Amino acid sequence: MVAILGYSRDQIFAAVRDMYSAVSRAPDDGFHFPVGRPAAEALGYPSDVLDRLPKSSVEAFAGVGYPFSAQAIQPGDVTLDIGAGAGNDALIAAARVGDKGRVIALDLTRAMTRRIRAAAEESGVTNLSVLEASGECLPLADGSVDSITSNGALNLIPDKRRAVAEIFRVLRPGGRLQIADVVIRRPVTVDCSDDPRLWVECVVGATVDEELLAMFQDAGFEHIRVVRRLDYFSHSPSAQTREIAASFDAYSVELGMQRAAQAPSAIQHWSRRLNPMRGLRSLWRRGAAGVASLALAVLTCYGTLGALALLAAMGAGVGLNEGLWATAIALFAVLTVAAVAPGWRYHSNVGPMVLCAVGAAVICYALFVHYTMVVELIGFLVLAAGVGWDIHLRRRKQARVLGLKTAADY
Ligand SMILES: C[S@@+](CC[C@H](N)C(=O)[O-])C[C@H]1O[C@@H](n2cnc3c(N)ncnc32)[C@H](O)[C@@H]1O
Repeated sequence: MVAILGYSRDQIFAAVRDMYSAVSRAPDDGFHFPVGRPAAEALGYPSDVLDRLPKSSVEAFAGVGYPFSAQAIQPGDVTLDIGAGAGNDALIAAARVGDKGRVIALDLTRAMTRRIRAAAEESGVTNLSVLEASGECLPLADGSVDSITSNGALNLIPDKRRAVAEIFRVLRPGGRLQIADVVIRRPVTVDCSDDPRLWVECVVGATVDEELLAMFQDAGFEHIRVVRRLDYFSHSPSAQTREIAASFDAYSVELGMQRAAQAPSAIQHWSRRLNPMRGLRSLWRRGAAGVASLALAVLTCYGTLGALALLAAMGAGVGLNEGLWATAIALFAVLTVAAVAPGWRYHSNVGPMVLCAVGAAVICYALFVHYTMVVELIGFLVLAAGVGWDIHLRRRKQARVLGLKTAADY
């Protein structure tokens, strides 16, 4: 949610509609993502399944995985396809649910909903209805569907928590979800809020993989399984897209899960969301672990001194185990070096790590060899410079691959 604060939801919707209207109008035009039958086959759609679908649907396939690998759809189901696109998955689902079931294909883009209607008519499918709506606000009653499928849509939806809450709401208790979506391992940390084009043209809208799983867990889904991880972007015809994907460690994932009998209580929900381990992992992924370790080192050093001075002023004499105190500071300083080190692989500049190592060495010298406050302070400043440099280089690399600004401007 934080990542979209600066965005206009309408701008994102407009960019999505433009992009997928273009896919519907001319699927062969060449997009930055794989489209059509070769794309579907590369993602694992069996040839005989594709053979049974109308050509008009298959040619505009734009999914990112094969969600049916999670096997969530059963005969007789009322099934919803969110972001149905040209309708391939909806048509496959219509065959799976059979005459006793029915499928609702929902998409934001009118050109796509028209395509689905035409394809259903062409193939004589009568158990499929079409809705033009957003996944953030499903026009369906609570608990009205047995299973949901979605392929490549969630990463395009601005408010993902709301979309997941909607999925939970419309699924009946025990209902099943299969989903394929794009995820990233390295979050976007540069500000691209004024460019909704990036939502549809690259991975800016995608969620960090474990945060996506956590989002479903928070909403009340259980038995969450990662069925497959796919190197989806290696199929992209665009070298720039492949570079962006590599920079954010993007891939696609197929998930299967079940809606719990009831929604988690507010306590369960917030205790999961405020889990400190989640916070630490998020800091690490955002390249902010160096800042956190540096802050802990500074706090342990000057914060302890400040607290002792305050206690002394209040008349409470508290002793300080200097060895323990110095070891803790040194540990956090070394941790800062370790947190900055992975940046070397990312931005290919060893400078920040070397600077941090020098800073940590100076601090350790002051703590364990010959203490002077000035030397210790210089050590902290050098350490801080290394951390700041690393953040700058990480952001500059992201800005460059996203084409936000030239490396020199940033
Ligand atoms: C990557 S395409 C995948 C289409 C289809 N699932 C397939 O496999 O070919 C994403 C689709 O999601 C739709 N979409 C994007 N944002 C949406 C939203 N907020 N609500 C509903 N559909 C949305 C787009 O219009 C587009 O058709």
